[in-house]
Amino acid sequence: MNQTPDSIPLRLVQDLQQAKYITALTGAGISAESGVPTFREAQTGLWARYDPQQLATPQAFRRNPRLVWEWYAWRRELVSQAKPNPGHLALAEMERLVPHFTLITQNVDDLHIRAGNQNIIALHGDILKTRCFNCRMLVDSYQQSSQIPPHCPHCGGLLRPDVVWFGESLPPKALDAALAAARDCDLFLSIGTSTLVEPAASLPFIALQNNTPVVEINPEETPLSNAATYILRGASGQVLSNLVRSVWK
Ligand code: OAD
Repeated sequence: MNQTPDSIPLRLVQDLQQAKYITALTGAGISAESGVPTFREAQTGLWARYDPQQLATPQAFRRNPRLVWEWYAWRRELVSQAKPNPGHLALAEMERLVPHFTLITQNVDDLHIRAGNQNIIALHGDILKTRCFNCRMLVDSYQQSSQIPPHCPHCGGLLRPDVVWFGESLPPKALDAALAAARDCDLFLSIGTSTLVEPAASLPFIALQNNTPVVEINPEETPLSNAATYILRGASGQVLSNLVRSVWK
């Protein structure tokens, strides 16, 4: 297959140049180069070091709310100190260059927002936001006291991070918007995700069912690799910067 000097197939360059609707799905891998840990990598992934059943389920919160709150406070601190990397910045640039660009993310960090993307569908919530475990209201400010977790100013319930835990449903509007964006695009990018967690893992396959080209950007193989139309193996920071340079510059 003919390739650009950055090893990007020329046919992919043409597909990207012609696409009016591009949808990108990101996972933890895009934030890895910003120092935010991924989940499933053998040595460094969060789920290799911590048990999600003890930290990321409603049952875990009921059992030990303080442990769960503090674990998320630690992760929130990591995210606050991280900065968008060239991969985030390339996706923000794509949103400026492509007529209709939709970014679906499974990440709960705010690095896509800080990079400048505006049309973002956050499937798994936002670690920087807080809501009540009891009345479910989003809470902007709450009294800092010795109580951990803090209490809801509306109903007195315990506050929790506004993220989706195992066993919980995704926000329905976000999921509907993501399904539509996967169905109705001219090209789909799957970036830095293990393609293991549903329903996000189905999104690239929905695009493929509609004969939409799907590009996987990941240093490792995933369950999508055999089906993807194009595979760009490598870290998303470098691959996405090359892609923007080769296609639009
Ligand atoms: P995973 O940790 O499952 O997968 C991260 C993927 O990123 C792997 O396929 C890596 O090969 C890839 N990767 C690592 N470094 C990369 C880099 N520099 N550039 C590109 N890719 C790289 O993370 P997710 O697929 O996002 O859910 O996990 C999905 C969901 O599972 C998360 O949203 C989280 C987790 O449980 C919730 O917390 C609800």
